[in-house]
Amino acid sequence: MGDVIDRCPTGVVGFDKLCNGGFVRNSDNLIVGGPGSGKSTFLLQFLWNGVTQFSENGLYCSFEPDIVETLNDGMAHGWDFSKLSEEGKIKFMRFSPQTGIDELTKELTSIIAQNHVRRICFDPISVLALNLSDGGKIRETIFELSSLMKRFKVTTVFVDESLEGEMGMTQDGEWTKTDILRFLSDSVSVFYESGVAGIGDRAVRIAKMRRTAHERKAVGMKIGDGGIEVLESQVGPASVVTAE
Ligand SMILES: Nc1ncnc2c1ncn2[C@@H]1O[C@H](COP(=O)(O)OP(=O)(O)O)[C@@H](O)[C@H]1O
Ligand SMILES: [Mg+2]
Repeated sequence: MGDVIDRCPTGVVGFDKLCNGGFVRNSDNLIVGGPGSGKSTFLLQFLWNGVTQFSENGLYCSFEPDIVETLNDGMAHGWDFSKLSEEGKIKFMRFSPQTGIDELTKELTSIIAQNHVRRICFDPISVLALNLSDGGKIRETIFELSSLMKRFKVTTVFVDESLEGEMGMTQDGEWTKTDILRFLSDSVSVFYESGVAGIGDRAVRIAKMRRTAHERKAVGMKIGDGGIEVLESQVGPASVVTAE
């Protein structure tokens, strides 16, 4: 495609096609969506493919109470993380929502260096954000976190649990507390559990992705035994535009 941007392919084939080959390397990317929309599945698949297809080590940071459940979800898709975890290729870490930025930074710094981590996921980062007192603090924390990731040249995916799903104001005209994440991130992909690309269909829409052209329409998506699949047939090349 004559694209000079260094990419970090997700390996989710349909998804990479939406954005000319995958996330921009060394960027931070936000996945927004309601419960069951496929956010965690996408992260696991991104990390699994990272190791198995691109030889890039990964780190999954969870702010959920139960990390075993996450691993079991992966197993159900045929991704056996236990071996990769023993080999140090993928690490799973659980942080309490009360973890301060200094502690987080310290822990991440050591594990990223030790394990040569290239891909890192935070699921859901909104838990950490909601625990902070105000928008200013959230901005500061996220900025510090993403600066750290950029210093280490890792590609980051944050999850924002959001019922609204869309980029924009909620019905009562307020930005929610975590909407700041959407402004700060290099890219925002919205996952829909149903109803956008056709009744009952799952869908994904890339709302923004800096430094690359990308599809802007919502595109159908499936979750099956092998994980997430973005449906190709609905991608119209004519609607691909160049982002800012
Ligand atoms: N093998 C499968 N076939 C079809 N759908 C599946 C399969 N495994 C999981 N799912 C769907 O994926 C959803 C879980 O997605 P998940 O990534 O945990 O969502 P989120 O993190 O956004 O809450 C389940 O609610 C289910 O609908
Ligand atoms: Mg989840």
